Amino acid sequence: MLIFIISSFFVAFFIAMLFKFLKAEGDLTLLSKKHVKREEIEDKVVWITGASRGIGEILAKQLASLGAKLIISARNEAELHRVKSQLSGKHAPEEVMILPLDLSQGEEYLAVAVQKAESLFEGAGVDYMIHNAAYERPKSMALDVTEESLKATFDVNVLGPISLTRLLATHMLKRGRGRFIVMSSAAGKTPAPGQAVYSASKFAVNGYFHTLRSELCQKGIKVTIVCPGPVNTSTSENKGHRLSAERCAELTIIAASHGLKEAWISDQPVLAVMYLVQYMPTIGYWLMDKIGEKRVAVAAQKGNTYSLSLLWGKKAK
Ligand SMILES: NC(=O)c1ccc[n+]([C@@H]2O[C@H](COP(=O)([O-])OP(=O)(O)OC[C@H]3O[C@@H](n4cnc5c(N)ncnc54)[C@H](OP(=O)(O)O)[C@@H]3O)[C@@H](O)[C@H]2O)c1
Repeated sequence: MLIFIISSFFVAFFIAMLFKFLKAEGDLTLLSKKHVKREEIEDKVVWITGASRGIGEILAKQLASLGAKLIISARNEAELHRVKSQLSGKHAPEEVMILPLDLSQGEEYLAVAVQKAESLFEGAGVDYMIHNAAYERPKSMALDVTEESLKATFDVNVLGPISLTRLLATHMLKRGRGRFIVMSSAAGKTPAPGQAVYSASKFAVNGYFHTLRSELCQKGIKVTIVCPGPVNTSTSENKGHRLSAERCAELTIIAASHGLKEAWISDQPVLAVMYLVQYMPTIGYWLMDKIGEKRVAVAAQKGNTYSLSLLWGKKAK
């Protein structure tokens, strides 16, 4: 009888966990943190790159409403002004600082931007740097990637953020505190057929920033790496199976305010693939090999590149 009760308990627990996982929008550690720690955000100087649209714009809106002092960056200054005019929170929109920035311009140019960011808010210094900007090309086979797109992707997604970090970290180290929040991607954890170079750039930032944290965390420098799956933004290629940009931004801020080192933000099936590749790589990579070629073909036809039917659909010609 006792064995029956115990095994029933385990079966019920397993079914409940499975149900929770199927409905999940992020990894289970992240979902256990229910709310943003507002005190970690309020009155902090937060610098966001790629804030002119997409997830960066929504992050700016949510951080403003949590009382952050914002510096918003991107290349398109007009769009930054539009975003600024829509922000509301403890600090008036006039207090939001616009810092135009092109991440592909090299270290000398970025050094000027860092000096400027550090001097804002009466020289308070940057508490949080959110590396959100990125360059993504339409999907293509790994062998079809041009040198121009390879360089452009790595300049914006990897070299720019690393240079900014090296420059900014010297100021943070003097203060003995600072946090980098890195918008990576599920493509930085698993293969991403059709996005080989983008995926490589996200694996690269994951490697750099996890290592940076291991070297500097004892000196007060923290890192949160966020790996979203498909997110619905105004510029999303296709709309099927995507988490809202609002929920992605909310979970990103929860992860950062709780000091998580890495957070996965996605619904199914991408979340399940991330778990498989991380914890059962033989099965995970086998699955990716089954869908890889078909996914590129489906992307070319503007179909749903996250559909489960890629697993059993016809082979691409
Ligand atoms: N959307 C998704 O499904 C998804 C999924 C996983 C991960 N992510 C990651 O989440 C982040 C935001 O994605 P998103 O979809 O919101 O991107 P998005 O809508 O394409 O916006 C990209 C942002 O980066 C800025 N940017 C592009 N090139 C730049 C450059 N050379 N210098 C400075 N800023 C530059 C753009 O502004 P300007 O053009 O004005 O410069 C824009 O604000 C990215 O890191 C992306 O890889 C997105």
